[in-house]
Amino acid sequence: MLLRLDFTTAFLAALLSGASAQTFRRFGTCPTLGCVIPPDQQDFLPGQEFDIRFEIHAPKNGSEAFNNGVPDEKFTATIAKDRGRPRSLNEFFKLKEPALEKWTFSWFEDLFAQDANTPSVVNVASKAYRRVALYEPGTYTVTLNYFSGKTTTAKWTVRPLATRKKAKNVIFFIGDGMTTNMITAARLLAHKTINGKYQTLLSLDDFPVLGHQMTHSIDTFITDSANSASALYTGHKSTVNALGVYADTSPDPLDDPKVETIVEMLFRIWGSAWGAVSTAFIADATPIALSGHSRLRSQYGVLIDQALNGVANYSWTKTDGPDAYFGGGADQFIPGSGSFQGKDYYAEFARKGYSVSLNKTSLLSAPTDKKALGIFCKNNLPVWLDRHIFPENLEINNDPSGANKSAKDLPGLKEMTLKAIDVLHSRGGKDGFFLMSEAASIDKQMHALDYDRALGDLLELDDTVRATIAKLKELRILDDTLIVVSADHGHGFDVFGSSDTKYAAAQTEDRAKRNAVGVYQNSGLSQYTEPKPGVSYNTGANFPLNWDPRYVIAAGLGANPDHREDYGVGKTPRSPASARNGEYYVNDKDRPEGFVVNGTLPTSESQGVHSLTDVPVYARGPCQETFGGTYSNIDVFYKIANCLGLGHGRNVTEGAEKRFGKGNGTGKGKGHD
Ligand SMILES: *[C@@H]1O[C@H](CO)[C@@H](O)[C@H](O)[C@H]1NC(C)=O
Ligand SMILES: *[C@@H]1O[C@H](CO)[C@@H](O)[C@H](O)[C@H]1NC(C)=O
Ligand SMILES: *[C@@H]1O[C@H](CO)[C@@H](O)[C@H](O)[C@H]1NC(C)=O
Ligand SMILES: *[C@@H]1O[C@H](CO)[C@@H](O)[C@H](O)[C@H]1NC(C)=O
Ligand SMILES: *[C@@H]1O[C@H](CO)[C@@H](O)[C@H](O)[C@H]1NC(C)=O
Ligand SMILES: *[C@@H]1O[C@H](CO)[C@@H](O)[C@H](O)[C@H]1NC(C)=O
Ligand SMILES: *[C@@H]1O[C@H](CO)[C@@H](O)[C@H](O)[C@H]1NC(C)=O
Ligand SMILES: [Zn+2]
Repeated sequence: MLLRLDFTTAFLAALLSGASAQTFRRFGTCPTLGCVIPPDQQDFLPGQEFDIRFEIHAPKNGSEAFNNGVPDEKFTATIAKDRGRPRSLNEFFKLKEPALEKWTFSWFEDLFAQDANTPSVVNVASKAYRRVALYEPGTYTVTLNYFSGKTTTAKWTVRPLATRKKAKNVIFFIGDGMTTNMITAARLLAHKTINGKYQTLLSLDDFPVLGHQMTHSIDTFITDSANSASALYTGHKSTVNALGVYADTSPDPLDDPKVETIVEMLFRIWGSAWGAVSTAFIADATPIALSGHSRLRSQYGVLIDQALNGVANYSWTKTDGPDAYFGGGADQFIPGSGSFQGKDYYAEFARKGYSVSLNKTSLLSAPTDKKALGIFCKNNLPVWLDRHIFPENLEINNDPSGANKSAKDLPGLKEMTLKAIDVLHSRGGKDGFFLMSEAASIDKQMHALDYDRALGDLLELDDTVRATIAKLKELRILDDTLIVVSADHGHGFDVFGSSDTKYAAAQTEDRAKRNAVGVYQNSGLSQYTEPKPGVSYNTGANFPLNWDPRYVIAAGLGANPDHREDYGVGKTPRSPASARNGEYYVNDKDRPEGFVVNGTLPTSESQGVHSLTDVPVYARGPCQETFGGTYSNIDVFYKIANCLGLGHGRNVTEGAEKRFGKGNGTGKGKGHD
């Protein structure tokens, strides 16, 4: 009876603390008090450099209070390969014992604790082993021993991967937030059907191989763009807001254990060229995760410095900077509060041999044999719809020089991508190149519930992919180039019918406006593909002929803030909710003719949020056959790495030495096995 009671009490306590640990956790990858980072179940490329951190947690109060908040400072750890003898990390990696570090952090156990402002306080003892690598494929068991008798183990798998290059070049297109539902809607807007048969198709529709990737973070089922980009570029999942690192609990966001990225490896091993193109500010998560190592994606200034100069303050492999780097985000380049240490990063890049373009004309005439920087505005690039259909929205103070005027001579994703290919092809030479090209505002406009602006940018991505294939053919490198088009996560978007904008506008009651929506047999056909009388957008095939038809698509998101909906195209960019006393309510100035849709999100959210869905992976070129099926986001990395022969585990910096000149390499990686 007593036993049973004890069991029930213990079980209940475990259940309570376990259940309350959903929204907030002491440390997502570490349910015990001894943390091994990278944690259990991680995969590695042979020879991929990474840092290891151990943390011992002694909660001072809260449900887990232990040992009066005094952490064990005498913890030990071993590593063993397969069934081999466990050895100390110092012996195994031939390292000196790292210094002991100590800090304190606090966290809320649940929403009640947050409301009451009673954080739980944790004292930490820690050691970090910097820049190691595992060269032999196999299973490694890391065991952490602490608090005399407690252990935490982590199993790591070093995957056997190809050492021979099958693709010379890789172009990785990322439609940020792009889902199959959005691709379907974009096709409907831009491509005409006759009696149910499409007369033309998207460029994506012609790809020979399609797979699906699961986007979850390491410690949450919904991801953001930082750790999802990081998973795609490093083969290691991470935590929301973190890129190029596994998150730790220390106060410094730059000291978290790092993992080597695909461009760092490609540069170190083969000496290839690399570039990033984005319609976002270039310090945004998706482009910056190629070179950045920070737990906080918002450290924009220092992340731009890392792209150019590599990680400071820690021995770490580095590239000699991107060969082509095009996007928005002048805020981190103009000397001032947005740039690292207030420095002029246009000048910093120029000093390292870059051509610097601040408009499209200058970009198109930039030399292809020099490294090229192109920053075309502050913040994100204006979207395709505003650049082509509503140019009056370009009248904003966003000139990349910092002058008080509008950036008007703007390239789109296509011009930036094609120019980057010219530069990378010329600079990579026989060593090839890696280019990431991001259609960022599919995500940004979906956040704003601005479906037309999002779909316009998706069509721009598709147009860019089409032009890229033609360009590679012209350069005679199409057959050597793996092209992957995917996303980092989705939004719960779909189309469920059409809406008669004329009928909706004539109704005065919200409920009557909703009756303008035609479902099933009343949905009709796309009117976006029918020319608008007296109007020619001149945007060419593959884009709608009419963005403002009477019958529009009726679309929505699986989750949203309070907002008004009229389904029609917004003549100005959308801002669905507005703040009152720190909470978001319907913005009555947005779509004033629409009806109110009450939100499903927390009242602190001003916008839509990311969703759970798997996202598509389109592939063509060398290794295309490996991209079919359903797999994790990290597998996208291993498939690309395999195709680039990055699995040969060499630890010399021959690629970098070749490009820096002998003796100017970035140092040898440590370790063996
Ligand atoms: C833990 O202690 C801190 C003060 O050190 C206090 O502010 C906090 O409310 C305590 N938390 C709990 C859960 O008791
Ligand atoms: C390196 O560390 C120093 C001292 O902590 C700091 O001032 C500096 O900002 C760091 N540099 C970078 C690039 O993070
Ligand atoms: C584009 O940039 C070049 C070089 O900085 C400059 O000379 C030119 O005036 C700019 N053109 C426009 C249209 O702003
Ligand atoms: C920028 O220029 C506009 C007119 O073009 C002016 O109204 C505004 O005050 C200026 N802003 C600043 C910060 O100088
Ligand atoms: C939206 O919610 C408010 C209360 O927050 C309520 O008064 C209103 O009737 C709701 N509107 C609709 C259309 O459901
Ligand atoms: C890695 O470097 C060590 C010395 O730093 C060397 O002994 C070892 O042979 C190298 N391994 C490979 C695979 O190059
Ligand atoms: C290393 O690079 C520096 C700067 O680019 C150059 O001055 C130096 O000559 C190079 N050293 C060698 C050995 O190539
Ligand atoms: Zn997003």
